[in-house]
Amino acid sequence: MQKDTSIGALLKWAKSALQQSCERPQFEAELLLAHHLGKERTYLILHPDETVADVAAFEALVTRRAKHEPYEYIVGEASFYDVHLKVAEGVLIPRPETEILIDHAAKIIESEKITSIAEIGVGSGAISIILARKFPYLHIIATDICDMPLKIAAQNAKRLGVSHQIELRKSNLLDEVSQSVEMVVSNPPYIAQNALLEANVAHYEPKEALFGGRVGDELLKQIILEVKQRGTKWLACEMGYDQKAPIQAFVNEVGVKSVTFYKDLAGLDRGFVIAFF
Ligand SMILES: C[S@@+](CC[C@H](N)C(=O)[O-])C[C@H]1O[C@@H](n2cnc3c(N)ncnc32)[C@H](O)[C@@H]1O
Repeated sequence: MQKDTSIGALLKWAKSALQQSCERPQFEAELLLAHHLGKERTYLILHPDETVADVAAFEALVTRRAKHEPYEYIVGEASFYDVHLKVAEGVLIPRPETEILIDHAAKIIESEKITSIAEIGVGSGAISIILARKFPYLHIIATDICDMPLKIAAQNAKRLGVSHQIELRKSNLLDEVSQSVEMVVSNPPYIAQNALLEANVAHYEPKEALFGGRVGDELLKQIILEVKQRGTKWLACEMGYDQKAPIQAFVNEVGVKSVTFYKDLAGLDRGFVIAFF
């Protein structure tokens, strides 16, 4: 008997293949088939009897997802803020909570009429690109310690028309940035070395983007110290949900004019804005 390769049959097969690895197997099956067909998800619902071409390629996508590979690496892009960003293995998939960091940074850029900032750990370019799009006069120096994020961020910045605003630099923190800037923004690695992570994160996302040290907040503290020593007035950072107390204690030790912590949409502590002077 010939195999049923209709949209409806393939969705049913994919849903059962994804049952163990995905929280929403039906939804993810639809996303992958829509991607394979180059159509919207609604198309699948309206055309359940249509025959799908190149079924082997679709099955390969589902098999990758069933092995916990993140959807974004499989399709090569992630939606973030109001754009789609190219991502690839070696580059962190931008997270929705980082949109909140951007909004806090944007408020200060606007109210203080800031024209120059630096970002530490550019990744896909998510933060720098959105800020550049919001503020066309803003100049950004964005660093990363790894090559792959710098390559992907350059491609994303070019495609989204902001490469003239963003200078990408390979650097440990701000070591290669001699210019003074008015603000530093960062979503650095802040997870503890021995933290238990979900398989899709632990097996696929870059270690350099995840782990901030033995405790997790080591790089955050180093950034706070370095930004103060440079004489930069503002610092906006994302952090782990359990890092408010140690960061507050460290900030008290270092001495700052003010620190404001913010929460994410789940109500968890997620970041801070420091005014040093
Ligand atoms: C959590 S990811 C954030 C990526 C992106 N900014 C975002 O929010 O999606 C952290 C990034 O910092 C980079 N990184 C790690 N250690 C660094 C260091 N010492 N100096 C500069 N970049 C670093 C990693 O390679 C990674 O791209």
